[in-house]
Order: sequence, then structure tokens, then C-alpha cells
Amino acid sequence: MKIAGRIKNLGTETAFAVSAEAANFAAGGNKVYPFHLGDMNIITPENIREATQKAMTDGKTGYCPAPGIPQLREALANNINATHQTNYAAENIAIQPGGKPVIGKFILAVMEPGTEVLYPNPGYPIYESQIEFHGGKAVPYNFSEGDSNFTLDIDSIEGLITPKTKIIIFNNLQNPTGAESSDDEIKKIAELAVKHDLYVLADEAYFDIRYEGKSRSILSFPGMEERTVILYTFSKKFAMTGWRLGAAIGPKNVIDIITKLNVNDESCSNHFIQYGAVEALTGDQSGPQNILKTLIERRDHTIKIVNSIPGMRCFNPHATFYLYPNVTEAMNIIGINDYHEFRKQVLENTGVSFCTRLHFGREIGEEKEKYIRLAYSGINVDQIEEGLGRLKSYIENH
Ligand SMILES: Cc1ncc(COP(=O)(O)O)c(C=O)c1O
Repeated sequence: MKIAGRIKNLGTETAFAVSAEAANFAAGGNKVYPFHLGDMNIITPENIREATQKAMTDGKTGYCPAPGIPQLREALANNINATHQTNYAAENIAIQPGGKPVIGKFILAVMEPGTEVLYPNPGYPIYESQIEFHGGKAVPYNFSEGDSNFTLDIDSIEGLITPKTKIIIFNNLQNPTGAESSDDEIKKIAELAVKHDLYVLADEAYFDIRYEGKSRSILSFPGMEERTVILYTFSKKFAMTGWRLGAAIGPKNVIDIITKLNVNDESCSNHFIQYGAVEALTGDQSGPQNILKTLIERRDHTIKIVNSIPGMRCFNPHATFYLYPNVTEAMNIIGINDYHEFRKQVLENTGVSFCTRLHFGREIGEEKEKYIRLAYSGINVDQIEEGLGRLKSYIENH
């Protein structure tokens, strides 16, 4: 039987294939140090679990409204208004089964086929996949490695804009680089969006995974509220990756369309976990604070060891749970130029498993500098030290 032609344009998240390879390697009796997937080995805070169990016991087990229960939509609107200087109400919120569905639904709601969409590359691979699957042209913009951050070149982004450009995807704080845009950089992106009348998808999956300083949203700049949809997720801040709960937040006319897509796709998000999410937003906040404490300790250990490995360097990101070390020299030291080969050799010789630049969108021309992504959200400090210690010895012995 023939498969639909459009499927050739559907991409994927190849990090899951790295997980499968790591699991295979582990099944062969080998030790694996999992730095590859942005999942968390931290359990969801107790008060959230209890509120969810109570809702289930209380019978919140049927369908609920397609855009989510009113209590959760209101709580989330209040929460975002407090941090984003916005004026959202429940009608601006459509609850989703995770943050990820916001990408495809937003694109379906506002992108005509043939439209050009600017997206960060390296970046979350689902942007490229969803843009192309729905008939758009994915136009990448990239980052430059500085001394203490990855930065954007606003002039070169503006140079990519044509009359067909209708959307920019902006992921601050960024996966995979850990990049954090300065207020000035965010303001300039906002100004570009206004000047060229672009929709903005503000992917704020890591807005609250911040260890130093304060997160600033593009929403807090003039002219943004009417053209921006926020991708919000409970996954990271509250360690709820497997629950699948997030939200699209934005102008009512777009949120209404996204709600209609909910009706078509899943009817509604899981009912009883939405009561757990209300507790997450309005209840005791020691859970997310402890999550941050755990993550910062891991970050500090990971950075220290990475910067002691010959041929590897990375700066100290203030947010996300990723490091994006430059490994150009390390690859030279062991005499490998190919990302797949490097990843395979390191896994087989040390058990350290990670994603490379290739898992975050197509390469843009010939890229001289080589990068890998180390996620420290799913690995404890003792394992970080043991695994990266093995990686260090492996490279030192060449
Ligand atoms: C940048 C970014 N956006 C969105 C998501 C989706 O998150 P989820 O669907 O788990 O809420 C992720 C998950 O890793 C991410 O890294």
C-alpha cells in the first residue's frame, strides 16, 4: 500500500534514536552515562502528585473543556501576567498535552503553504519538521559562540527576511546551546517582528529553568501581545515531562483556532492532571526550587569537568539544563571528523551518550566548529563525575 506523499516532509526528533542506541548498548551489559535526552530523573513534587491523585479519586476522569479546565486557564493567565507584564485572561490560554503540540498547531493556525518561517538552528528539531510538513519553507538563523554566551546577529536575521516571511520562532532560553538573549537582543527581535509584521512563536520551555538573573519575555516589548504565541510547558519547571501538559498562550483569535485543533486532535488534555497543574502554579513552590538546586549542582560539576577535558570548552549558561561544548579540538585529538563516528566511538569506549549538533536541525553550509549537547537533567552528580572522568581519560590517552 502506498504511503501519503506529504510524509516525506515530516522530520523527527533524532535524540530518541540516540536513546534507543544507548539502551541497546546498556542491554549488552555496558554502563551508560545518559547525557543525551532532555528528560529528567527527578520525580514531580509531592503536592502536585497528591492534588492529581485527589482529582482522580474525586472523579475528574471524564472529558473536560477542549481548551482546559477554567481554574487552570485562569491560574496560568495570572502566573504569566505576573512575569510577562501581559494582560491575559483564561480566553488567551489553550491547554495542550505538552509544550510540543503548540509548535504544529500554531503553524497550522497561522502559516499558509509557501510561507517562509525563520527558526533557530541549531534548535529544537520539531520546528524544521513541522514547518516543512505543513508546506512552509524553513529558513534557519544561527548563533555565534562568544566568551560567555551564544549570540544572535540581528542584521543577518533581518537579511533573511523576504516578502514571503511571515513567522519567526524565537526560543529564549535556548535548547541546545543554553543561549540567553540579552534584553537588547530580545528587543531587536521584537522590533524586527513589528517592522516586518511577523507572527512570533516564543518557545519559553526553559523560562523558569534559570539559575542566575531573571528571565525576560519577548512579550514584555511593545507590539508583541497581538502577534505572539507562547509555548508554555509544565514539563521542565515542575519535572513533569511524562505527564504531557503544556499550553498555547496568545491572542484570542489564534487560541480559538488552536482550541478547534484540540477538538479535532485529542478532544481535551488529560482531565485530572490539570488539577495537579493548578496546584503546581498556586501551591507550595518548594518543589520547583529544589529542582533548580539539584540542577545547578549538576551544571557546576558538568562545566568544571568539561572545561578540564583536552580540546573541549564551554561557558557557564545561566539557564536551561544543557551545555553545548565546542569539541572541535577534541575530535581532532582522537582523529575523527564525523559526528556519528565520534558519538559512536565515545559511547563504545566510555559509555558517555550525548547528542551532537546534527540532532538540532540541518547543518548550515560547511560548519567548521563542532559541538555536542550534554543534558544534565537525567543524570546524578556521581554519574556525571564518573562518566565525564572516563571521557577525559579517553581523550587524554590519545
Ligand atoms: C525548546 C523546547 N521546546 C519545546 C519542548 C517540548 O516540551 P514538552 O512537549 O515536553 O512540554 C522542548 C522539550 O525538550 C524543548 O526543548
